[in-house]
Amino acid sequence: MKNIVILTGSGISAESGLKTFRSEDGLWLNHRVEDVCTVEAFERNPSLVHSFYNELRPIMMKAVPNAGHQAITMLQQELPDVTINVVTQNVDLLHEKAGSKNIYHIHGRIDECVCMNCGHVLTTLGDVESDESCPECHVQGMLKPNIVFFGEMPKYMDEVDKMLAECGMFIAIGTSGVVYPAAGFVRQAKFYGAKTYLFNLDPCNNSSQFDQEILGKASQTFPKFAEELINELKKKG
Ligand code: OAD
Repeated sequence: MKNIVILTGSGISAESGLKTFRSEDGLWLNHRVEDVCTVEAFERNPSLVHSFYNELRPIMMKAVPNAGHQAITMLQQELPDVTINVVTQNVDLLHEKAGSKNIYHIHGRIDECVCMNCGHVLTTLGDVESDESCPECHVQGMLKPNIVFFGEMPKYMDEVDKMLAECGMFIAIGTSGVVYPAAGFVRQAKFYGAKTYLFNLDPCNNSSQFDQEILGKASQTFPKFAEELINELKKKG
């Protein structure tokens, strides 16, 4: 088996009590995207953007991984000869908490800020205020949540391009397939010959591009698949 790429979205964390983005009670409903997750919003009103992420941070930090996250770790542990990369759109740390490795946070992390003056990335577990100074360059008011806002480039795109070109299996879990470039990864993987699987509650925006779509809660559907895959690959040796 060539490498496996697992793309995760907020649906995998839903059963850990974290809201998805586009569900009826999702994150964007209380706040308009334009107010809290764009470069323009941050320039216009950094205090509002910081307070949104200050509210979200402790909720995410308290969450615990569920069987979906754990099944990814199990795959990595049971198949040490296969490189399994986890490309996540989630800014929570549930893959880390579940003990997974090779995690790429393409939309950033809730526990970090970046200084827009010097590029220094710092861990921020408590609240961050808009007038704080960077501990590295000491310039005030330039700390931004290390979240990829609309209008910014996602992170690790070169690494992800390479992984997709080399993978034999592409698995998306809990993502609506609406936000690019992540929504385009399945097409890229398929182009290079990978088998493609989707584990989602509902059909997603790009469902037709997947070879197999397994609908249901990821905490139930994905562990079963992972177990079967481990048995199959171990049998093949
Ligand atoms: P969405 O809210 O767009 O989609 C979540 C998907 O998860 C939906 O298709 C649901 O059907 C599915 N889902 C919900 N509960 C599930 C469960 N228990 N098991 C399996 N699937 C479930 O969230 P994302 O696709 O993650 O970007 O959104 C992508 C990006 O949009 C986010 O990373 C965020 C947002 O803009 C940034 O913050 C930069």
